[in-house]
Amino acid sequence: MARAAATFACQSCGAIHPKWSGKCDACGGWNTLVEEGVAAPLGAGAAKRAKGRRFALEELKTEDRAPPRRLTGIAEFDRVSGGGIVPGSALLIGGDPGVGKSTLILQVLAAYARRGGTAVYISGEEAMAQVRLRAQRMEVANAPVQLGSATSIEDILSTLESGKPPDIVAIDSIQTIWTSALEAAPGTIAQVRTASFDLVRYAKSSGAAVILIGHVTKEGQIAGPKAVEHLVDAVLYFEGERGHQFRVLRAVKNRFGPTDEIGVFEMTGKGLAEVANPSALFLGDRDSVSPGTAVFAGLEGTRPLLVEIQALVAPAGFGTPRRAVVGWDTGRLAMILAVLDARGGLGISASDVYLNVAGGLKVNEPAADAAVAAALVSSFVGQPLPKESVFFGEISLSGDVRPAPQAELRMKEAAKLGFSTAVVAAGTKSEAAALTLVQVRDIGELLSLAGAEHGRSRRDRLKQ
Ligand code: TYD
Ligand code: MG
Repeated sequence: MARAAATFACQSCGAIHPKWSGKCDACGGWNTLVEEGVAAPLGAGAAKRAKGRRFALEELKTEDRAPPRRLTGIAEFDRVSGGGIVPGSALLIGGDPGVGKSTLILQVLAAYARRGGTAVYISGEEAMAQVRLRAQRMEVANAPVQLGSATSIEDILSTLESGKPPDIVAIDSIQTIWTSALEAAPGTIAQVRTASFDLVRYAKSSGAAVILIGHVTKEGQIAGPKAVEHLVDAVLYFEGERGHQFRVLRAVKNRFGPTDEIGVFEMTGKGLAEVANPSALFLGDRDSVSPGTAVFAGLEGTRPLLVEIQALVAPAGFGTPRRAVVGWDTGRLAMILAVLDARGGLGISASDVYLNVAGGLKVNEPAADAAVAAALVSSFVGQPLPKESVFFGEISLSGDVRPAPQAELRMKEAAKLGFSTAVVAAGTKSEAAALTLVQVRDIGELLSLAGAEHGRSRRDRLKQ
């Protein structure tokens, strides 16, 4: 029988080592390995297991009504959280430093407090004066939010538990909170996990909703929000490209709602402004239509969203052609280029290709394939696409264009913004089409629509 061996856990990154050493190989921390108890060999403990207390198993159905959700009044936030924050739940907001997490949460708390709720904001990063100054600039300083500045989890919990639990409490940021029970430095995995665990337990026991703010870090000294994602009920990411004022709040996990919703904000001099009609924003100025731009009628959660896809196809200098993509998947672009060549005979793969989703948005939908392909072909042949057209449909490896879900919703949005034609997959259902439908069956038909002669058919003709 194998002998149970002691293991050594790094208190900084959580890596497990079979042997003690002065330095953790995983994170490079010095003197961070601590021996953990000897694990009993599997199966051997059954005979010796201590007797446990029995608990009743109950039915799934319940007569209890779910407690009402806590709406903040900031519609973009409420929608992404799945229709308001659930009492007793824990929510994690992750994002790059400087993207606007503190700004967003301060605004959310202020809006909630103004509606009569109780909200507590605890900052571990900024001094009270700094937070007040920011609130003043954002014109929310008169909202009845209770403010605290603390980093010790013991202090925070004693403070919170001394009075009636607030409806919402925000901790900014989880990486600054630490407990004296651990020797590890603040910001390490062990500290972040312990603090999050205690705060989540506080939420469950008190009924207060806890919002944890977490910085996303690139491989570094402080632990990222990934380390606590499994502890919380919902995870929202706040994203934005540098140099753009748009910010997108996206749900990536939600035990109480859908995860494909986004909220769109614009960073202004007075904090974040909600963007109720993001299509107009991401479309930009479309008075002049140049080759290489196509409008994708997309869908983010329940909401249609029109975005401009921009492509530039240029002759390659030498060697391997360049590929640069912003806002879309590089692998997917490679696939579309391959299909254009193999099924459409276009010969585009040898060129440099640049692809950009306007406005700094990230598009994940396969339905964007048709718009990307159209933009690429349009730039390749140097001919603008038909004006006032939107594109959507998934392209398969065989070169077929496949229908995308929720066509009706996409087309309605396009019609609302003044488009007249939708280029869609053959078989796209539309009862009350607000637009003229142009149905394409495969990549060849898409090519001829975009002004390229169908290469393969031309070759075929030459062969005959
Ligand atoms: P912040 O909320 O501090 O980011 P995070 O908490 O995610 O680190 O936001 C920082 C940025 O937001 C900062 O670069 C300045 C900008 N900002 C504005 O443009 N307008 C404003 O009203 C505020 C408060 C911040
Ligand atoms: Mg901050």
